Amino acid sequence: MPVTVVVGTQWGDEGKGKLTDLFAEEMDVVVRYQGGHNAGHTIVVDSETFALQLVPSGILYPHITPVIGNGVVVEPQTLFEELEMLASRGVDTSRLMVSGNAHLIMPYHLELDKVTERYLGKNSLGTTKRGIGPAYSDKAARVGIRVQDLLDPKIFREKLESVLKEKNAILAKVYNRLPMDPKAMGDLYLDTYAPKLAKLIGDTTSFLHRCLAEGKEVLAEGAQATFLDLDHGTYPYVTSSNPTAGGACVGTGIGPRDITRVVGIAKAYVTRVGAGPFPTEVTGDIADLLVERGHEYGTNTKRRRRPGWFDCVMARQAVAINSLSEIALTKLDVLDALETVRVCTGYRVGDDITEEIPYHQSTLHKVEPIYFELAGWKTDISQLTCLDDLPKEAREYVGFLESQVGVPVSLVGVGPGRKQFVDFAK
Ligand code: GDP
Ligand code: IMO
Ligand code: MG
Repeated sequence: MPVTVVVGTQWGDEGKGKLTDLFAEEMDVVVRYQGGHNAGHTIVVDSETFALQLVPSGILYPHITPVIGNGVVVEPQTLFEELEMLASRGVDTSRLMVSGNAHLIMPYHLELDKVTERYLGKNSLGTTKRGIGPAYSDKAARVGIRVQDLLDPKIFREKLESVLKEKNAILAKVYNRLPMDPKAMGDLYLDTYAPKLAKLIGDTTSFLHRCLAEGKEVLAEGAQATFLDLDHGTYPYVTSSNPTAGGACVGTGIGPRDITRVVGIAKAYVTRVGAGPFPTEVTGDIADLLVERGHEYGTNTKRRRRPGWFDCVMARQAVAINSLSEIALTKLDVLDALETVRVCTGYRVGDDITEEIPYHQSTLHKVEPIYFELAGWKTDISQLTCLDDLPKEAREYVGFLESQVGVPVSLVGVGPGRKQFVDFAK
């Protein structure tokens, strides 16, 4: 009953969509376990690009059952637009299942995300403004509305009336916004969304248990990443869910002993979008080169991503927190143009050197990365698929990361396309 988890090891956008799609060929089910439409997962097949926010990245294969697990927060309008986009491009979306226990993103969540970010001013987190934080807050406060509530109009309207009373008071009195109308909102969700969602809603936890009992292969697709994790990330500059591998159990109902493989996705360098500490961040020409060669602009929000060197301190922490069995290293081709490549192996903290992330976050803001410099390969590797053909320097770079991080690199991405990778496990 093997379950594979795909988890981001940095601050997101490592290439989880591409790797999920790649692994899905061998799977039966792909389940998203947390996050919502703050995610942007890109898959490139031949010359076609698919950017997915909510739908699991296995959907392109007809043999896959894609599942939106209970840990996800669902914005119905985005989900329908995504399904229509896929259908218009010939993808069969009828197999999608959505957990009835997943929480709904409501219009007041989107509004509250926007106004709280504005209110924070220079201390804003740089969220995607998709209502993610407010929706998970309501879930924790037990005033959230779940997907299954759409199937019971009376309950749905009761919950909406009650919660909207409080939200309207906050929106009007704290943020000087216009109140929202529960009747119109209820009509939109019950008359427009519910009939379309009804046929997709199900008990995804029982479904996954049945799949496992039948010996089917399940892949749990993480969104966001280890250092955006609400508990393990650089709080408060995090998302409001648990992208780390433990979140795959909570967000699907799969037990931990069913997980047999945890693949950490890491970029050959690091990017971050939004605010927060980033020890190996670079600026200037190298930053521009990484951003331009790596097309480092948000899949959804189009924001320029902040680039930096690969950070082994963080990667080691990601290995430990997620109990990674291996790393899939993406975007090695982006480094093709560099004379030399840097890797952070430790941090200098005042007079001390540490190989671990400082426990106190104020210290993390002040650390100075210690770099090891390796020779670049100055070769276009984007068309290579055979390990022996990779330039010696590129193999040395990967080998150095493996030795630092302590788990094998099983696969290296050399371009966005589905087939652009080198298998290191062979
Ligand atoms: P995700 O959020 O982790 O799924 O990653 P995104 O899709 O947001 O960002 C990764 C970007 O890098 C996408 O545009 C991918 O098409 C692209 N990509 C993935 N792997 C590779 C790779 O090995 N090389 C290059 N050049 N691009 C890649
Ligand atoms: P994928 O799955 C990169 C970042 C936001 C912000 C912080 C909180 O594509 O890797 P939120 O809207 O979640 O409350 O924002 O998290 N963030 C991401 N950064 N990739 C993502 O998803 C992200 N999802 C959220 O930029 O800093
Ligand atoms: Mg992304």
